[in-house]
Amino acid sequence: MASASATLLKSSPIYDKSEWVKGQNLRQPSVSFVRCHPTSSSAFTVRASSYADELVKTAKTIASPGRGILAMDESNATCGKRLASIGLENTEANRQAYRTLLVSAPGLGEYISGAILFEETLYQSTTDGKKMVDVLVEQKIVPGIKVDKGLVPLPGSNNESWCQGLDGLSSRTAAYYQQGARFAKWRTVVSIPNGPSALAVKEAAWGLARYAVISQDSGLVPIVEPEILLDGEHGIDRTFEVAQKVWAEVFFYLAENNVMFEGILLKPSMVTPGAECKDKATPQQVADYTLKLLQRRIPPAVPGIMFLSGGQSEVEATLNLNAMNQSPNPWHISFSYARALQNTCLKTWGGRPENVKAAQDTLLVRAKANSLAQLGKYAGEGESEEAKKGMFVKGYVY
Ligand code: 13P
Repeated sequence: MASASATLLKSSPIYDKSEWVKGQNLRQPSVSFVRCHPTSSSAFTVRASSYADELVKTAKTIASPGRGILAMDESNATCGKRLASIGLENTEANRQAYRTLLVSAPGLGEYISGAILFEETLYQSTTDGKKMVDVLVEQKIVPGIKVDKGLVPLPGSNNESWCQGLDGLSSRTAAYYQQGARFAKWRTVVSIPNGPSALAVKEAAWGLARYAVISQDSGLVPIVEPEILLDGEHGIDRTFEVAQKVWAEVFFYLAENNVMFEGILLKPSMVTPGAECKDKATPQQVADYTLKLLQRRIPPAVPGIMFLSGGQSEVEATLNLNAMNQSPNPWHISFSYARALQNTCLKTWGGRPENVKAAQDTLLVRAKANSLAQLGKYAGEGESEEAKKGMFVKGYVY
């Protein structure tokens, strides 16, 4: 598959320069696949990352049957909130203990193909002194890294936000690759109650596209995540309308930035009614709307679509994923959950060393349930009451 992709890139269709944005300077190729029109003097250059084959391979590995991503990249501030919910202080030692518990759950790699880490964890060792990254690789889990620097207010918008982190990103992504990361995540958000304004959508899409091409240049598969927040009273049709607009813009700028679609993964929100809408949607409705969105907006070249849970309960997120996998899709449709994988695990642990095994077992229960849902075989039986509790928090900050 890797070499097939190289062939594909080498023989990409050639566009005339006039099709490009007028007056734009084309970057010179760093290495590898460069294609010039053989007969035209106004040659158009298409370049791809020197990591093209590796990116395709990494993306395919993460998007492998019955597996998905464990998002454990909560910033130190967010991790602190999680720890506070079980009465623990937000110290490095407590974060290390919790993350050690997660990465070393026995057999986790059967259901989990990738784990997104916060920078601290990428460079951290477990409580037994092994590198977290090495423990993941032993489990056949690809290490990933959150590279965005979080959200700040977007001046000129309707109280919306934009995502920081492009300055110096290429040096950071190069260092993260050296440290063992093979994929990256950049989460930006779109708020429906606040608009969304055209400015906020454009800014989100452009930032994602710049991040994506920079990550590919360093050998990291970018997860493209424009989270459409659950906040709001709107119905499912409004979410669908906004999601169509957002994804159209995201793919426009991904293409403009020469991002190689075979080497990215997407992390969308499922299409649901707003959290405060009085009408609730069934898993079948969520699946119908979400699949229709994907079919209209996402090219089949993209290997994997790894949904976020966004405040749904653990069981709801699994049921919705299962409903989307009842018939074959052009892409691997899977999960990249944080709250919907970790909630009962964290509560079971409660910060007590004697509960580590039980907490790991609950993590494995959720990972297995979502693995089955990826295969369309989740029956939804025997779930705990805790796993059915919604986790929506208004104005949630990750
Ligand atoms: P949730 O599954 O809790 O929404 O988090 C996923 C994530 O990584 C957000 O960026």
